[in-house]
Amino acid sequence: MSHDYDALFAQDRAHFMHPSTHAHDHASGALKGRIITGASGIRIRDHEGREFIDAFAGLYCVNIGYGRTEMADAIYAQAKELAYYHTYVGHSTEAIIELSQRIIDWSPDGMKKVYYGLSGSDANETQIKLVRYYNNVLGRPLKKKIISRQRGYHGSGIMTGSLTGLPSFHQHFDLPHADIKHAACPHFYKAPTGMDEATFVRHCADDLEQLILREGPDTVAAFIGEPVMGTGGIIVPPKGYWEAVQAVLSKYDILLIADEVVCAFGRLGTPMGSQLFGMKPDLITTAKGLTSAYAPLSAVIVGEKVWDVIVEASARDGAMGHGWTYSGHPICAAAALANLTILERENIAGNAAEVGAYLNAQLRQTFDDHPLVGEVRGVGMLAALEFMADREARTPFEPALKVGARVSAACLERGMIARAMPHGDILGFAPPLVLTQAEADQVVEIARNAVDAVAAEVL
Ligand SMILES: Cc1ncc(COP(=O)(O)O)c(C=O)c1O
Repeated sequence: MSHDYDALFAQDRAHFMHPSTHAHDHASGALKGRIITGASGIRIRDHEGREFIDAFAGLYCVNIGYGRTEMADAIYAQAKELAYYHTYVGHSTEAIIELSQRIIDWSPDGMKKVYYGLSGSDANETQIKLVRYYNNVLGRPLKKKIISRQRGYHGSGIMTGSLTGLPSFHQHFDLPHADIKHAACPHFYKAPTGMDEATFVRHCADDLEQLILREGPDTVAAFIGEPVMGTGGIIVPPKGYWEAVQAVLSKYDILLIADEVVCAFGRLGTPMGSQLFGMKPDLITTAKGLTSAYAPLSAVIVGEKVWDVIVEASARDGAMGHGWTYSGHPICAAAALANLTILERENIAGNAAEVGAYLNAQLRQTFDDHPLVGEVRGVGMLAALEFMADREARTPFEPALKVGARVSAACLERGMIARAMPHGDILGFAPPLVLTQAEADQVVEIARNAVDAVAAEVL
């Protein structure tokens, strides 16, 4: 390591507050940091010149892969022409107008308008405000609770962290907020022994309905869910789940927010996750793959039903008091436009469907009977392995053994990033959507060697 990197690491430890990082271990140097210096395709490089396959696409966001100069050119051209103007009081730029149309084209039917932010968290914060506004102007001030799910992930703000159904995002923050409730997680693998899939779906829908009835349907405004749960452990819902949930929601006049921050823009092999599962959301949250993370941008997509109410209310009450300085930032819009062009031109969602299916099939073939692996699951370019101490009895490991983190570390030693998911011993895969079949083989081979190495230690 060069002297420069020593100094940089010292400065990093001294002054940079990292997200989701063990503060003590980082400050003491026990947590070995990594400075990323470059990236191309599905690979990133670090300060030691080591290359890694990034089988998690950053944080499942670099859909088109790293190092696309076309993206840099689009950002540069927009920055030269007009780096910024706000979008309050009807101001626009060409880029944001065109982008709004393009996003509606990617969306399921019934979507009308797009509001912009910079992150998935702020977009979900906007959703919560829209839901409150909608019911307040309709004269239903009590209807404001939002139901999310255990293990759902929707951000880490006060309200969005409340939506997130993972205890570590609540601890020491006085969360969740009283207006946020959590329904059952649709993880069929964890269903009571002997329960079939259809019964489990009924069980999830009943759990949701009972929660609504306990809270009082007049107090429940919306349900938010990821088409496929991401950070909670890459959980593909059982067949018929979204139909059953939507039937309950319409019975009690409850809005559906599809949190598509991970699933949109090709990750599941379809334009958005909603199309794959026949979801008919009233509101959609997107971010990540919208720009493939070349610039920060989120989009709240508002359906006709909610939009019509907003328009009517403004005729009576004036403009809605909601906006960010950087809503619709032109540089981010230019990045999104270039990204969507690449996604469409190269049929990258099609590749995600094809190579994703291959990756999932190879993972199943390799790990279905592996003694360390309880479940192999995934869809599109998303996959996970869940590790069990006893795969027959489905008994998890002691958390202190950190089996998931150890497999992730073993992957890293072998040149691949696969993410230890925060809840349970789960290794997640969400590679860039441009992954080739040969690269999928490499991912599986490295995973196999890493899992074997950890199995030899813990079984
Ligand atoms: C489904 C989902 N929603 C919201 C968020 C929050 O996005 P951000 O981290 O950009 O605030 C994430 C982040 O991973 C996510 O996966």
